[in-house]
Amino acid sequence: MIETYRPIDQNGEPVHAHGGQIIAHEGWYYWIGEDRRGRNKVSCYRSKNLECWEFRNHILTLDSPQKQHPLLPTADLRLEVEGRKAGIGEGCNIERPKVLYNRKTGKFVMWMHWELPDDYKEARCAVAVCDTIDGDYTYLGSFNPIGHMSRDCTVFQDDDGTAYFISSARENLDTHIYRLSEDYLTIDKLERVLWPGQQREAATVFKRHGVYFMLTSGCTGWAPNQGSYAWSRSMIDGWSMRYPFGDETTYQSQSTWVLPVYHPESGETEYLYIGDRWGGKDGYFESGYVRVPIVFDSDTEIHI
Ligand code: DGJ
Repeated sequence: MIETYRPIDQNGEPVHAHGGQIIAHEGWYYWIGEDRRGRNKVSCYRSKNLECWEFRNHILTLDSPQKQHPLLPTADLRLEVEGRKAGIGEGCNIERPKVLYNRKTGKFVMWMHWELPDDYKEARCAVAVCDTIDGDYTYLGSFNPIGHMSRDCTVFQDDDGTAYFISSARENLDTHIYRLSEDYLTIDKLERVLWPGQQREAATVFKRHGVYFMLTSGCTGWAPNQGSYAWSRSMIDGWSMRYPFGDETTYQSQSTWVLPVYHPESGETEYLYIGDRWGGKDGYFESGYVRVPIVFDSDTEIHI
């Protein structure tokens, strides 16, 4: 059994960054994820050593500035929805936020899953933008990408700056890979439909030695299930079949991110699997995390 990771911040508060990501930026690791306490939606923490976490900001809240992006024609800027009973937290439901840094525009762009408070029927993605990684993000709008349903989601930025938004489509039956526009603010095109009908969630992508890996989970609500991985030498073509990853509950976790950690002493890069150990809808605020290094059995075979 992998022990639950339950970090606290400098104020002694539990770190709430669920369904999130950890990214390196200017000598820090920034942890960004769901924070559903009160009017918070997304929070940001940082650390030098991945152990001591400093709370930085509630980077997206129900009170965040909103400015509709002209290229998001179906955008609905309401973050707060009157008369709909909240699921967990106040207002709309924001899940699995992920931030990309755009080298050309100098902006940090957040992609996330957006729902009305009490069900998952809207299946939209949403976008927000900021000048700094841990500042107050401006909310730009929510929409169905090229008209598709979009639930669990992640992003991936390739070495050449091309960025992708990956999400569960068609009632979670299919996994879509979209290419983002150059400024990362909109969808450019649908590049690939993976594993039609196979019902995957919780996708996360990383790249090692020119090989792309995509981890996903099955769809069992808040309960953990058998994760799987696939690999490819291109983001667009040639994805392998899916192979099981972890045990039948992925060691009581659901994938959310993989963080490359460079160790200067050994010159090696470790790839840290980061999963959520959800407390469920009623125990959501007790949710913890799982962190464990990925083992590479070959260039294309992994396990934890
Ligand atoms: C599984 C998803 O991966 C989570 O992000 C969340 O949407 C839960 N389902 C809700 O049941």
